[in-house]
Amino acid sequence: MTHGRYVYVHTFGCQMNVYDTERMFDALKSVDYEPTDDPAYADLIILNTCSVREKAEDKAFSMLGRYAALRENNPDLLLGLGGCMATRIREKVFKRGLPLDVVFGPDNIAELPELVAKASAKKGSRTSSVKFLPRNDYDFPIADAPTDGRVNSMVTVMKGCNKHCSFCIVPKTRGREVSKPPQMVVDEVATLVKAGVREVMLLGQNVNSYGHDLRDDEVDVDFAELLARVNEVEGLRRIRFTTSHPWDATEALAKAFGSLDKVMPYLHLPLQSGSDRVLEDMRRGYTVEEYLKLITRLRKYQPRIALSTDIIVGFPGETDEDFEKTIEVLHAVRYDSLFVFKYSPRPGTTASRLEDDVSPEAKQKRLERVLEVQNVYTNASLANFVGKEVDVLVEGPSQRPSSDGTMFQLMGRTDTNVIVNIDMDGSIGDPLSLIGEVVRAQITRSRKHSLAAELVSVPKTQQNQRPFFAV
Ligand code: 5AD
Ligand code: SF4
Repeated sequence: MTHGRYVYVHTFGCQMNVYDTERMFDALKSVDYEPTDDPAYADLIILNTCSVREKAEDKAFSMLGRYAALRENNPDLLLGLGGCMATRIREKVFKRGLPLDVVFGPDNIAELPELVAKASAKKGSRTSSVKFLPRNDYDFPIADAPTDGRVNSMVTVMKGCNKHCSFCIVPKTRGREVSKPPQMVVDEVATLVKAGVREVMLLGQNVNSYGHDLRDDEVDVDFAELLARVNEVEGLRRIRFTTSHPWDATEALAKAFGSLDKVMPYLHLPLQSGSDRVLEDMRRGYTVEEYLKLITRLRKYQPRIALSTDIIVGFPGETDEDFEKTIEVLHAVRYDSLFVFKYSPRPGTTASRLEDDVSPEAKQKRLERVLEVQNVYTNASLANFVGKEVDVLVEGPSQRPSSDGTMFQLMGRTDTNVIVNIDMDGSIGDPLSLIGEVVRAQITRSRKHSLAAELVSVPKTQQNQRPFFAV
């Protein structure tokens, strides 16, 4: 048997990039590239990059240097640059003499086989395609059915972002919003379910504006309606989505958490800052009061909803008082988890014209303070599970060995997205048959980022009927 060549992709940044990496693998299959997880074996290495903060870009440049060094043993190695940095620096990468053969933007993944074929046909030739496609020409790459037995999978529902948050480079690197037609989303989810997937994560830079552009085609489906349609897909157990901008989170969306049985009680709702003045400079389009009202509304429809958020510390002009207001919101909301970032000026954004006047030391201190305050709520949120029974969607064998190293454990998640490791006591003949099932488990212990549990019961008739996968 002849085998093709190998491609290694180093993925930086957000879940959209993780999804895009899979589409790169799908696209490259047509020209006989198989994925490898060892760059030393690769014939083609792609950096799927992120531009959201400078640090991520610096890391990508340094990795590029390391991968280029592999050419010493493998002179035919091709190097590609994809993702947000590709849009940002485009063909300039060639002028700068960077060791790259192929450059392609997030909209140009479908062209990858052709670009790679050209680059490999003639050594030293450099190929690129970095352009946003207008909505009528944009073809969403559709996920091939996975063959690895995974229980959860991502589905892009839209690309781009039309908002103007002053700190954010994404609208520049990913272009205008284009929504995937609703039937296409439903069909993609159904294909995944046939391949064994039980949980989908619907992805978009801001899913709340899903469908706005579809009105041009006289399709009247907003995100809440899309959720209702995906909720109907037979065999699917759980729906999650990200990211949701507080500005256009509608009442219908909040209601979906209470009325659609597959929409899980977990929402990531980026706050960014707890100071109205800073929020205005960030051009976020909401006040703290409006944000808190939204939280109250979400909790009204789904009292158990788990919440997470993003915070930026050290935005230009952020004073100690502004920062304290952010801390106040953390106490008011009691998030289950959060991500915190130091402000990083990005070229071409409106905020980059403001002086980056918060010192690196103050940014670091504020970041640590956010983590310290949040830690208490994260721990409390996990400790609150101990002794309770929960539903866990089983994803596979646990990565972590049990305390004495002998017990077999299964790993899954609660409906609120917390990782649970369940001890299996041997009473279930083949524990792997539970992969893809929702089981009942009693939580025995909380750890730093996860829960330990004992199995209480499994569904009487396994609803699973997943295809067989060797794990
Ligand atoms: N500096 C720091 N953090 C940023 N984010 C986006 N742009 C920047 C920036 N310039 C953060 C926001 C966003 C998350 C994905 O990254 O919190 O929600
Ligand atoms: Fe960036 Fe704001 Fe769009 Fe999110 S909503 S991608 S933060 S511009």
